[in-house]
Amino acid sequence: MPGLSVALLNLKPGTGKTTSAVWLAHIFAEAGKQVLLVDADPSGSALEWSDLAAMDPRLPPSAAFPFRIVALPSRRLHLRVPEIAYPDDVVIIDAPQLEDHAGIARSAMRFVDEILIPCAPSPIEINRTTPVRDEIAEVEAIRDRPVRSAVLLNRCIARAHSTANAKESLEGLGYDVLRTAVPRLEVYAQSFGLPISEIGRDVWRGVAGDIIERCVPLGKVQL
Ligand SMILES: Nc1ncnc2c1ncn2[C@@H]1O[C@H](COP(=O)(O)OP(=O)(O)OP(=O)(O)O)[C@@H](O)[C@H]1O
Ligand SMILES: [Mg+2]
Repeated sequence: MPGLSVALLNLKPGTGKTTSAVWLAHIFAEAGKQVLLVDADPSGSALEWSDLAAMDPRLPPSAAFPFRIVALPSRRLHLRVPEIAYPDDVVIIDAPQLEDHAGIARSAMRFVDEILIPCAPSPIEINRTTPVRDEIAEVEAIRDRPVRSAVLLNRCIARAHSTANAKESLEGLGYDVLRTAVPRLEVYAQSFGLPISEIGRDVWRGVAGDIIERCVPLGKVQL
């Protein structure tokens, strides 16, 4: 079993699941971890990103995404990933939106140590997380170990009150909220299809550190 497994998951498309999964996978890989990125979304964006990045002339093809990536948009993912990931330290799953692919998303929820819900600090996105919380409660009942979940505030506007307000609202709804909030930045908005730049990594190092801190009892992965 990997030391740490994380799924990026939300009800709706376009909340930052793929962007978060890809940047986080790079951060664990740069820390020397053996990483498996599972593209569980039938749209295949993470895999497409890695294919495009491998064509970038500035880097050798294998250096663009320095970890394994597999497409596994399957409802049996929770059974398949343990077989595939046996040599890996960290598994990151880019899960599809729950509203259209509930079977796959639930399967990812059954497998991982941590469910991360990327969410913008806006009332509409916060409201739309409620079905995710309900699903997590249902999946908990069929898991062999407790599930942990947290909201990852993403696309936050610098120096706006909305980030602190959103954190307070989400905590009021019973969510854990990761300490590091990801700002809305061009470097992330433009990153699809390219190798991950050095600029912008620090924030994701913060996110990875927060995830590890929450997993201290597991204690198997450190940055
Ligand atoms: N922190 C950020 N700052 C700026 N843009 C961002 C940020 N995070 C994500 N984006 C942009 O938001 C859009 C949606 O992100 P992404 O594709 O990662 O979401 P997704 O949840 O995987 O979507 P889908 O459900 O369609 O797969 C993309 O254009 C991406 O570049
Ligand atoms: Mg996506």
